Amino acid sequence: MTATAIESAAAVEGAASPLLQVDSLGVRFGRHEVLRDISLELTAGDTLVVLGESGCGKTVLLKSMIGLVRPSAGDVRFEGRSLPRMSDRQLAHLRTRYGFVFQGAALFDSLTIAENIAFPLREHTRIPAAEIRRITESLVDEVGLPRTVLAKKPVEISGGMRKRAGLARALALDPNLVLYDEPTTGLDPIMSDVINELILRVRQRPNVTSVVVTHDMHTARKVADRVIMLYPLFRLRPGDPQVVFDGTPAELDRSTDPRIRQFVEGRAGGRLMELREEQALAEARGAAGEEETA
Ligand SMILES: Nc1ncnc2c1ncn2[C@@H]1O[C@H](COP(=O)(O)OP(=O)(O)OP(=O)(O)O)[C@@H](O)[C@H]1O
Ligand SMILES: [Mg+2]
Repeated sequence: MTATAIESAAAVEGAASPLLQVDSLGVRFGRHEVLRDISLELTAGDTLVVLGESGCGKTVLLKSMIGLVRPSAGDVRFEGRSLPRMSDRQLAHLRTRYGFVFQGAALFDSLTIAENIAFPLREHTRIPAAEIRRITESLVDEVGLPRTVLAKKPVEISGGMRKRAGLARALALDPNLVLYDEPTTGLDPIMSDVINELILRVRQRPNVTSVVVTHDMHTARKVADRVIMLYPLFRLRPGDPQVVFDGTPAELDRSTDPRIRQFVEGRAGGRLMELREEQALAEARGAAGEEETA
């Protein structure tokens, strides 16, 4: 084989092998089972949107994808390597490959925006200070913030600006995987759309794969190549899979499954009363669990 043939064979293989594989994943906290038998693959370059009602396990799934939550069953593989089996060194390296935009931005309050954005660069690289300053400036430009925010503390800027600063920090190490947890929650419709546009712009960076957890159907339709919808385990009928939908945004709109229609159309229906009952039940269960463990 010629060098080019080998390279193109490798490229084909690279294109076919998924960036991330979630294989029969289960997660439980004590007796509280949150995720059961979740399997999915993320192809490099794709944008996956994870939908589902509050408490169904979206954040837990996102964190499991990068080793921040340990599986109780099954496996998660990043570029073929099993996260639960990674050494501390391998996990530290993995942290340089992804950017996490946390639910609620999660900036360090005592640091300026510039220090927040530069944090991963200082932590994981030996890039000189002047170069870090240059990268930080280009990141605030990229997320559409004025450079005057660099000297400010997080409390001094608006919620939408904080979300964008959180995104700039997540992009600092030029990650291959960008994870967004509720990036538009709490923002007005215009600012939400600014964030959606930024997600679209980030996915145009070379070699970026994105996972977006959201309640926001507008975000889902705008940014997703593929959508999955999770359902809370305790509301499933026995034997039903927890991923109640897996397809394109157009297929989601055409779905006739009442669980999906209720979510897509934003109907509360009888959910308010159900939620009260479920919460009472969960609290009773929690109290019983505490007594047992006490
Ligand atoms: N570290 C933890 N210890 C114990 N229980 C946890 C932990 N993390 C999450 N849970 C529980 O797992 C369930 C799912 O939580 P998760 O945060 O994934 O929900 P979510 O779908 O992201 O909800 P929301 O849309 O409100 O953010 C919840 O019942 C939560 O209390
Ligand atoms: Mg969440």
